Amino acid sequence: MTHSQTNSLLSVPTGKLQISELPPKIADTNGEAMLLSLVIPTYKEHDNIKNVVKVLSQLLDESIPGQYELIVVDDDSPDRTWEVAQSLTEKYPQLQVMRRQQERGLSSAVIRGWQVARGSILGVIDGDLQHPPEVLTQLLAEIEQGADLAVGSRHVEGGGVSSWSIIRRLLSRGAQVLGLIILPGVLGRVSDPMSGYFMVRRNAIAGATLNPVGYKILLEVIGRGRVCEIAEVGYVFCERKEGESKVTWKQYVDYLRHLLRLRLSTGRLGRVSQATGKLEKLSQNIGFPIGRFLRFGLVGLSGVFVDMTILYLLSDPTTLALPLTRSKIIAGEIAIFNNFLWNDAWTFADVSMKQQEWRQRLKRFLKFNLICLAGLILNVLILNLVFNFLIPNRYIANLIAIAIATIWNFWVNLKLSWRVTDVK
Ligand code: GDD
Ligand code: MN
Repeated sequence: MTHSQTNSLLSVPTGKLQISELPPKIADTNGEAMLLSLVIPTYKEHDNIKNVVKVLSQLLDESIPGQYELIVVDDDSPDRTWEVAQSLTEKYPQLQVMRRQQERGLSSAVIRGWQVARGSILGVIDGDLQHPPEVLTQLLAEIEQGADLAVGSRHVEGGGVSSWSIIRRLLSRGAQVLGLIILPGVLGRVSDPMSGYFMVRRNAIAGATLNPVGYKILLEVIGRGRVCEIAEVGYVFCERKEGESKVTWKQYVDYLRHLLRLRLSTGRLGRVSQATGKLEKLSQNIGFPIGRFLRFGLVGLSGVFVDMTILYLLSDPTTLALPLTRSKIIAGEIAIFNNFLWNDAWTFADVSMKQQEWRQRLKRFLKFNLICLAGLILNVLILNLVFNFLIPNRYIANLIAIAIATIWNFWVNLKLSWRVTDVK
């Protein structure tokens, strides 16, 4: 491919994922205000990108000529999507390309694109033609009529999915219901919170530090932005013709973590988190992370609750009446899993954020498991020691054993599972 005179690539912003109030000044704008900046995140869209750019340009040249820009943000695709995109910039001067080699992930790609955007309206559309471009004009019209956010939705009049299997429909709806339970204030505001096709006013998200995990950038925009009026426009999610979807089961786990993180950092719980943040300062002075320890303790309590409930459901004579030991092992393991999720998303969020790779997370989970197991053995040992030699009251002895095992669990996990120094 020849790209002798193509424009240079956009440089990738670093630091916080935050959008500025005023668009960055870029030399060649002639001071002209840009209306719409549309980000097209891509990963392995070699066979689609040319068509996407062509179709979008045709459409926008007609409706808002000269007032828009297209920003392709490619995560260093092995099929060199970024290179193809770059070769198009000569023919389409409103197109710019960013090639990310350090960071990864759909949501952060979109935000990095918005950070260099010049428009007062920020938008996103998939780079595989599954989002019908005609809908852009309607989304734009909604914003111009006063909406802060205009969402392309598969679940309102005029929307749908072309030929999804029943499984994928169920998974998608299940994820939505789960989200509604955990974060009603965010997911309850739109009919299609999973949409990756929308536009938002710059001033509705400027200044907020976005911190998304995985695929669902819209949750972050609604959860952390100042979005008052939301409009929805129906669209039919088309079939892919070229390339393939990057969604795997990992995205479902990421989605769950994202929900938890948003839950814990916004609203009332967010204020609690901030208060514990102050504790963290005190902790530094005394050399023990009190806030973290409290969070760890609370998570532990939730685990006791999970353990008890499952134990009841499995072993009680009125329920499943399974053997006690077997039930306890299952209950204990589920409780450990529960605790791990919360600790990873909350207690040690700052650490796990820097180590989001799937392998690293699995490693943390395995370590956590082992340490908890050792903690349980320790618990039993101490209970016996205290009961036989110190205090002949089994409940007091057990309380002491639990307290010591909790400190052990916390300390060893702090040093081994969520080790602050372990960044590559
Ligand atoms: N830069 C970058 N980095 N782009 C990515 C990445 C990534 O890690 N992963 C995916 N993309 C790009 C793809 O190239 C495509 O342009 C777009 O993001 C959507 O990815 P798909 O893999 O095609 O996802 P999908 O078709 O299953 O789902 C999409 O549509 C849904 C319905 O609107 C996503 O956008 C979902 O978020 C959305 O809900
Ligand atoms: Mn797609």
